[in-house]
Amino acid sequence: MFFRTDQKHGLPHNPFNALVAPRPVGWISTLDRDGRPNLAPYSFFNAVSYAPPQVIFSGGPRPGRRGEAVPMKDSVINARETGEFVVNVATWETRAAMNATSAHAPAGADEFELAGLAKESAVLVKPPRVKECPAHLECVTVAVYPTLAAPGYAPNLIVLGRVVGIHIDERVLTGGIVDQAKLQLVGRLGGDQFVRVGDVFAMRRPD
Ligand SMILES: Cc1cc2nc3c(=O)[nH]c(=O)nc-3n(C[C@H](O)[C@H](O)[C@H](O)COP(=O)(O)O)c2cc1C
Repeated sequence: MFFRTDQKHGLPHNPFNALVAPRPVGWISTLDRDGRPNLAPYSFFNAVSYAPPQVIFSGGPRPGRRGEAVPMKDSVINARETGEFVVNVATWETRAAMNATSAHAPAGADEFELAGLAKESAVLVKPPRVKECPAHLECVTVAVYPTLAAPGYAPNLIVLGRVVGIHIDERVLTGGIVDQAKLQLVGRLGGDQFVRVGDVFAMRRPD
């Protein structure tokens, strides 16, 4: 089949996400301008550059809170207002808590507490880390900019962040290399489907 994305696809769900998969889950912790912690997963998330290391996450609009012209997700608001966020690496062990923190809690609610997670201080930024995670990226916000938006829709907002510090629990290293069998990352597929990284193989590049 083929469909134009500006026309109806006729399928039960939009297949777009399922074809750009698996997507890593950026589990984003921030502080609001009053210093209250916030935590939520974003699978519109990826690494986009090495030197310096940079990541993006993209927040969709949310209906009618705070009365903004374009209501935004708290993680985006906080990363923009405070200039900082932490990416907590979501794993098989933390999957249920990660999912729980996607609940649309009121602004200012502490999703660490809602999901029963412990906080650990970051080194270079103020938002706390999820202690249960084996790796974390401490980030400063570089830019926040809108995606295209279909008629009648608000755009997503893309947060570009510079990774200024990286934590890795040595228990997920083997010979100094990140051991994917120990790390057990989870990725998002389409709809409510996820994948656990397990079937790892190596391939040499041609040059
Ligand atoms: C695995 C997973 C991935 C998600 N990815 C995104 C995403 O990329 N963009 C987005 O706007 N919402 C995404 N969500 C929904 C948000 O997590 C949810 O709207 C959350 O309440 C936002 O919280 P915040 O307003 O505190 O940032 C995702 C949810 C789950 C469970």
